[in-house]
Amino acid sequence: MKERNSAGFSEKARPYGLAADYYRLHARKQVLKRILYAGAAVCPENAALSVSHYEIAAEKIPPAFDGFRIIQLSDLHGRLFGKDGQRLLAKIKAQRPDMIAVTGDFADEKTENFAPLLHFAASLRAICPVCFVSGNHEQKLPPLLRRSFLNGLREQGVGILDNTSVHLERNGQTVDLRGVRVPLRYYRWRGKGNRRIAFSEKKMERLAGFCGPSYTVLLAHNPLFFEAYAAWGADLTLCGHVHGGLFRLPGLGGLLSPERKFFPRYSAGIYRIGDRVMEVSRGLGKYPRLNNLPEIVSLTLRSAPGHPTPRKDVL
Ligand SMILES: [Fe+2]
Repeated sequence: MKERNSAGFSEKARPYGLAADYYRLHARKQVLKRILYAGAAVCPENAALSVSHYEIAAEKIPPAFDGFRIIQLSDLHGRLFGKDGQRLLAKIKAQRPDMIAVTGDFADEKTENFAPLLHFAASLRAICPVCFVSGNHEQKLPPLLRRSFLNGLREQGVGILDNTSVHLERNGQTVDLRGVRVPLRYYRWRGKGNRRIAFSEKKMERLAGFCGPSYTVLLAHNPLFFEAYAAWGADLTLCGHVHGGLFRLPGLGGLLSPERKFFPRYSAGIYRIGDRVMEVSRGLGKYPRLNNLPEIVSLTLRSAPGHPTPRKDVL
């Protein structure tokens, strides 16, 4: 007689059991996804467009950059507001930005036509310099498609900061602007206890190079590795990815991360480790939202002595 396990299957049948577990899990994920998309379609908050203002003050910011304004756009997932993104463009122009930072998931696997996004990128570039760093969804695009999308952005004059940097210069003073493309494997949970692969300061150095002595602004799609970014030397890190946690609960923050983890550590707003500051955008895409309006982030640098004093004022 064949030996049977606790589930009542013979040991030989176990591989089929594993496959069944996998398909059951996959089916559950698909159901959850459909519920989320259906929720996004009817969610009235998606029609709104808010601007969050922060002042980032630090002694290390050169005086020439006092008042320098960065507009951050994140996680559009192929969405544009109004025809050719006119509604979004009008809000951005009104902020009079010196630079626009797009922190990933501008497109995703469901984007069928990149032309509207590239046209929108050209309109952004007409306002001021634009920099971009890839999110997990750009990394999931088929390689040829991804290359053609990034080349398209380059042709529109957008600076691609995937593991590279540029120096911003004003009156002979500089601020270092870096981007890190966190590889896809660091977005996944795996192993016993659902742990992540460690992402360290050393890994940051391997990906983005050494951090110099200038005030450094880092664009990094995933906020989960703030400790590594801060230890590496980023003074100000701009992130997205978590979509505000979808439902924002008073006193508790965002409910759910894209990895389906409840109450993610970083979901929206300003976080600090000593003098290092990280800002996490709630994103602009169409997701189920509660108390979590789509958000343009406006950051004004202040060359001020003393401790950094981020200030938030949501319109
Ligand atoms: Fe993302």
